[in-house]
Amino acid sequence: MIVNFDLNGEPVSVEVEPNMSLVDMLREELGINSVKKGCELGECGACTLLLDGSPVTSCLLLAPQVEGCHVTTLEGLEKNSLMIDLREAFIENGAIQCGFCTPGMLISSYALLRDNLHPSAYQVKKGIEGNICRCTGFTKIIEAVLDAAERITPE
Ligand code: FES
Ligand code: FES
Repeated sequence: MIVNFDLNGEPVSVEVEPNMSLVDMLREELGINSVKKGCELGECGACTLLLDGSPVTSCLLLAPQVEGCHVTTLEGLEKNSLMIDLREAFIENGAIQCGFCTPGMLISSYALLRDNLHPSAYQVKKGIEGNICRCTGFTKIIEAVLDAAERITPE
């Protein structure tokens, strides 16, 4: 079957098997490598992306479910000023070690700061609670998100 949707601002049409997951379609058919495959059970958050603006785990969605939707991945936010602030804060605060969780962490953190420019540490923890990091112990990631919040210039 054919799935038609908007990927990072561009209309795309992809032929898929009806039971293909969204993460597989993005990685295998469209070369979107920022969306990682970790647990494939909806628990690690490595496959997080924005579906119509909200963070979702793409391993738990079937590709046909995004028909007519807007899908945004890290690739689509490369030039976004909030994402640039987040990336720099992650790097400068040592919040990236192996990097496997990083795209999902950045997407969840982006959604948090987009909706709340001045989160508390507790709100940051809640914002990234669906994302697991095996390397950093989370502290540096929380510090990075709070640091990014301080860098943001409201538009
Ligand atoms: S791969 Fe999707 S939540 Fe782990
Ligand atoms: S940096 Fe390795 S899992 Fe988070």
